[in-house]
Amino acid sequence: MAQEVGFGVVGLGMGQTHCRDITDAQGARLVAVCDVDESRLNPVAEKYQARKFGRFEEMLRDSEIDVINVCTYSGMHADMAIAAMEAGKHVISEKPADVNLAKIDAMIAASKRTGKKLQVIFQERFMPVNRKIKEAIESGRLGRLIGCHGDLRWWRAQSYYDNSADHWRGTWRWDGGGSLMNQGVHTMDLMQWFLGPVASVFGVTGVYTHKIETEDKAAAVLKFESGAIGTINTMTCAYPGLATELFIQGEQGAIEKSDANIRTWRVQGETKEAEEAEEAEVLAEFGRKEKGVSLSSDPNALPFRGHRVQVEDMVNAIREGRPPTITGESARNAVAINLAIYESARTGREVRVRDMG
Ligand SMILES: NC(=O)c1ccc[n+]([C@@H]2O[C@H](COP(=O)([O-])OP(=O)(O)OC[C@H]3O[C@@H](n4cnc5c(N)ncnc54)[C@H](O)[C@@H]3O)[C@@H](O)[C@H]2O)c1
Repeated sequence: MAQEVGFGVVGLGMGQTHCRDITDAQGARLVAVCDVDESRLNPVAEKYQARKFGRFEEMLRDSEIDVINVCTYSGMHADMAIAAMEAGKHVISEKPADVNLAKIDAMIAASKRTGKKLQVIFQERFMPVNRKIKEAIESGRLGRLIGCHGDLRWWRAQSYYDNSADHWRGTWRWDGGGSLMNQGVHTMDLMQWFLGPVASVFGVTGVYTHKIETEDKAAAVLKFESGAIGTINTMTCAYPGLATELFIQGEQGAIEKSDANIRTWRVQGETKEAEEAEEAEVLAEFGRKEKGVSLSSDPNALPFRGHRVQVEDMVNAIREGRPPTITGESARNAVAINLAIYESARTGREVRVRDMG
C-alpha cells in the first residue's frame, strides 16, 4: 500500500470539516492542527489525536506534514499558502484563493517556483449535479450558450458577523467583500466554469439588514467573452434564507437548478417525447426529494462531502505527479470577476475583468 499523505490544518472553524474529511479520505492522514485560539485548538487536537500548534510557523517545521490546508480568514490565505509552499508543503486553500489578485498571483508563482501543488476548495464543482450540467454543456447539447443567471438568496444573522474571530467577516481586509465574495463566490465560480470567461461587468451593491463594512446584497450584469449575457444576485439579507437558483440557457435548451436539485432539464432531442423522457430521468436522479436544512440559513449545513473529494484529489495528484483539479489559476477567475463587480459598484461604470490585474 502506498504511504499515506500527511496533512496539517490551520484555522479551526471550517478547518474542522477539513479535519473530519482528511480523516475519512483514502490515502490521507491528519498529522497536526493549528489555531491561535486555544479554545478551538485543544478540543480539535484531542478529538483527532493530532499534534497541536499555536503558531503556524512552528507547524511548518513538522516533517511529517506533506500538505497544509489553509482555513483561516480569506485575506490570510495567500500569505500562509506561500509560506507553506516555501517550507516544502503542498497546499489546499479554502475559497476564495485570497481577496487580492496580486496576492493570488504571488501564490500561483510560489507554486511554480517551489514545484509544490496548490489546490483551492470549490467543492460545488465536484457535486454530481454540477458535473452532469458541465457534461451536457461540453458535449454541445445545449447548443451555443446565451445566458447564465445565478441568484443566491441567503440569510445570515448579525451574530454571524459579530461573533466571528477578530470580527473578520464582513470586512474588506479579511473577507474581501460580503455576500458576493464570501457566499456568492461559489455561484460565480460555477457560472464561469459553465460559461467560460467574463469580459466585463456592471454591478451595484448595498447593505440593508446588517452592520458591516461590506455589502449584504449585490447585483450585477455580466458580459461573457462568448457573447452570452449573465446576471448574478447575492444576498445574506434574504430572511429567512431561501434557495440558490441557477438558470443556464443555450440556443437548444435550458437547465434550471435550485440548490442541489434540478428543476428543469430541457435539452433539444429528436422528438418532444424524447426530451421529456430525458428530463424525467434526470429529475428522478437530481430532482428535489425532500426539504431539509440548507446553507441558505445555516453556514454549517454542507450537503455534500466535497472537501473529502478534494483531499483525495490532492493525494492522487501527488501520487500521479499531476496538477490538482482546481488550480490557483482556475480559482482566480471568480475572485477577479467579483472584484470587478465591487469596482463597478464603487465607480458606477462597466468594468473589464482583465483591467483588475
Ligand atoms: N468551502 C466552503 O463552503 C466554506 C464554508 C465556510 C468557510 N469557508 C472559508 O473558510 C475560511 C475560514 O472561515 P471560517 O468560517 O471557518 O472562519 P472562522 O473564523 O470560524 O475560523 C478561522 C480560524 O482561523 C483562526 N486563525 C486566525 N488567524 C490565525 C493564525 N494566524 N494562525 C492560526 N489560526 C488563525 C481563528 O482563530 C479561527 O479559529 C474562509 O476563507 C471562508 O471563506 C469555506
